[in-house]
Amino acid sequence: MSYEESAQYYDSFDTKGNSAFYVDIASRSEGKVLELGAGTGRVLFEIAALGREVVGIDNSPAMLREAKRKRREDHADICARCRFVLADMLSFDLGERFAFVYAASAAVQTPSADDLRGIFRNAADHLEPGGVFAFDVAAPRTMRRTEAFGPERAELPGGRVVIRFIAQTYRPSTDTVSFDILYKEHIPGRTSTVTVNETGQAAVITPEAIEEAIEYAGLRINEMYGDFDRTPYTGKSPYIVVLAGHGE
Ligand SMILES: C[S@@+](CC[C@H](N)C(=O)[O-])C[C@H]1O[C@@H](n2cnc3c(N)ncnc32)[C@H](O)[C@@H]1O
Repeated sequence: MSYEESAQYYDSFDTKGNSAFYVDIASRSEGKVLELGAGTGRVLFEIAALGREVVGIDNSPAMLREAKRKRREDHADICARCRFVLADMLSFDLGERFAFVYAASAAVQTPSADDLRGIFRNAADHLEPGGVFAFDVAAPRTMRRTEAFGPERAELPGGRVVIRFIAQTYRPSTDTVSFDILYKEHIPGRTSTVTVNETGQAAVITPEAIEEAIEYAGLRINEMYGDFDRTPYTGKSPYIVVLAGHGE
């Protein structure tokens, strides 16, 4: 997903409720923090507010533009601690290591489950000894379905109102899901609405695929949950949430 026109709406539909989980883990460590797929900096700014130095990488220029706008307009007091880098999590080298590396809101859930190995290898290369690597993905149960969501409504500054619909289509032949997202924005004083379409694809990721890729990357799974309240993962869980570290 490019987020080219929809980055401006991203935070308005934040129903993920996962920032407290990542902020809590960050607060238990000391040292620099790296987010893979940082998007608009939704979680990153909360961690920076703890007094931590944070770096966010993302391959969407539009999402990073939005993150930098927020840094300038909403977080000027902590801007010196927040760095954003345009980079692909499959191939990047920042030349530094971090105490906490994380990827929130299924940022590692690319169109191919095979990408996990490379992403985790890069995460491992940027993780300090004793550091924590955390991420979440949507669980297979929620991915292997064809369904539609919405409409959801959000209010934006200036009296603007945006409505979002999501269509999710599961393709068993490739074990992937495609998303079609439609935003309709009403701007006060105008009779016509603005329409924005986004499409994207994501692979189904199983606990087994995660275990295999984590081992490949020389990491070890320390905790695995099925939700951000730390309930254990079962086949009925909405998410797979993992905390990992360097292996022996
Ligand atoms: C669902 S958003 C999550 C954003 C943020 N982590 C959050 O929780 O609000 C996924 C983000 O991952 C980014 N992303 C996807 N694939 C990426 C890749 N290969 N390298 C870097 N960023 C990527 C997208 O551009 C997007 O900003």
